[in-house]
Amino acid sequence: MISLESYIGTPTLELIIADCKSRKTFAKASERNEEWIGLFFGLHGGSYAYSRGVLRRVSRDLPPGNFLDLGSGAGTIVIEMASESWNSYGIDFCHNCYELGNENIKLVEKEKYIKKKSAKIAHGNFFPKEFVLSRTDKKEDSFREDIETHLHTCQNKNPYQKLHLKIKEIDLFYHYQVERKDNILRLFAQQAKPEARLFFVKSFDDAYTLPPNIEKESELDSTFFLYRKRE
Ligand SMILES: C[S@@+](CC[C@H](N)C(=O)[O-])C[C@H]1O[C@@H](n2cnc3c(N)ncnc32)[C@H](O)[C@@H]1O
Repeated sequence: MISLESYIGTPTLELIIADCKSRKTFAKASERNEEWIGLFFGLHGGSYAYSRGVLRRVSRDLPPGNFLDLGSGAGTIVIEMASESWNSYGIDFCHNCYELGNENIKLVEKEKYIKKKSAKIAHGNFFPKEFVLSRTDKKEDSFREDIETHLHTCQNKNPYQKLHLKIKEIDLFYHYQVERKDNILRLFAQQAKPEARLFFVKSFDDAYTLPPNIEKESELDSTFFLYRKRE
């Protein structure tokens, strides 16, 4: 059992913050084709250093394996986990993000921050074709319109095939919330392998049902949730 609570309080919180400060930031926050990407808000907003710090701590209690960022934005999280010796993957349905993420990967490979080929990002929808999304009113589904627009642009892509990766092979999933929690939990419940973990960073309040084969392993600050898929 991994306890997120053990990461708060002295001296652990100080360690996380010190660790975050000592890390380089590679994400290029920029505008591309008139779309803002790599900022701290909006559909493509990047995870905060604190989220990255907590993720690093959690991942160090697990044997490194395959990591997937469900919606990888500027690629910072994918890069971070590659630097932690995970085979690190990202999928994003925004072509601008896909390009920016790959530029950032090339940059950090050149700087030898990560090993070549340890981080990969593909363009497309992280929900497989057969997955049925549940939608609700705007208040509970804050990014719905933006999401639907982007989904239209990559209907025929199969990002898992591009990455040579099956959902069943992923050990740790990450999602910085723009999608309904209900959809992310159902994807995890239906398609992940037993003992896989999902690290979920909440950004809005929405209703969800915890599927019976999913256990909440830990919760921190009502923002960070760690889930485990049961046998
Ligand atoms: C809030 S950003 C998080 C970026 C990055 N994971 C991070 O934490 O820094 C969410 C990303 O998910 C992407 N996204 C949302 N739904 C998606 C889907 N169904 N398939 C692929 N990408 C998606 C968006 O384009 C966006 O870049």
